[in-house]
Amino acid sequence: MARFENRVFVVTGGGTGIGRATAIQLAVEGARVVIGNRNAELGGDTVAEIERGGGIALFQRTDVTDDAQVRALVDLAVERFGGLDGAFNNAGVEGPMGPLHTMDDATYDRVLDTNLRGTFFSMRAQIPRLLERGGGAIVNNSSVAGLVGFGGQALYAAAKHAVNGLTRTAAVEVAAQGVRINSVCPGAVRTEMFERFRSGGGLSEEELGALHPIGRIGRSEEIAALVCWLLSDEASFVVGQALAADGGLSSV
Ligand SMILES: NC(=O)c1ccc[n+]([C@@H]2O[C@H](COP(=O)([O-])OP(=O)(O)OC[C@H]3O[C@@H](n4cnc5c(N)ncnc54)[C@H](O)[C@@H]3O)[C@@H](O)[C@H]2O)c1
Repeated sequence: MARFENRVFVVTGGGTGIGRATAIQLAVEGARVVIGNRNAELGGDTVAEIERGGGIALFQRTDVTDDAQVRALVDLAVERFGGLDGAFNNAGVEGPMGPLHTMDDATYDRVLDTNLRGTFFSMRAQIPRLLERGGGAIVNNSSVAGLVGFGGQALYAAAKHAVNGLTRTAAVEVAAQGVRINSVCPGAVRTEMFERFRSGGGLSEEELGALHPIGRIGRSEEIAALVCWLLSDEASFVVGQALAADGGLSSV
């Protein structure tokens, strides 16, 4: 039997990059996937890709900074597929590159709202549904910038550190009721966000790859593999962890 047969997962920010790769992998392994993305066209593309492969997925336009939209996404999963087994809270945005003392209030609001408030809203809507189901698993997408400092991205790093704090705390609150919550902390991964980081910092992909002990940046599928493992029963004793998939970057 496929690892996620008959299971239902929500993936936020599933229209591109790491979220898209994870939604596809979950569906390939039998899950029914409900994708929420701010951008309708991109979310629809992920659903079409999953359906072409014979999988089952739905898309609903969702801005994770809007509590009503986040709740509606979770309700859609329950109404259409009978319940929720887990989620990958992945939607995120970076700020412009620059030192903390040059950041304006609007950047603070945008970066903290999406990465932190969005993760809070998502878990707040999802956890009661998992408890109703008798258990489940959540993975939040943090970053290596949630583990160590990241020059030029103070607000992003603050939000991602906070995502790990939410993760660890929520995890210990509900672990005994069968809900496992963990986060992943990717190093640089080739996505649209990475391209914006790269061009903002004026570095080539090779230069950024060389910062990672493995000598290259990562692929979305490599993060998706870790997320899927954490969402699966194979990770049944893994609770409250912030797991790096970063080619060794956080160990330097
Ligand atoms: N690419 C990297 O190097 C890297 C490294 C570490 C962590 N991450 C994290 O991985 C996650 C995914 O990023 P990615 O690299 O795949 O980049 P991406 O820009 O391709 O994906 C981010 C997705 O989130 C969506 N999104 C943004 N704001 C949203 C909102 N308010 N509501 C709903 N959806 C929203 C975007 O539309 C997009 O589809 C992010 O949380 C990011 O911080 C990325």
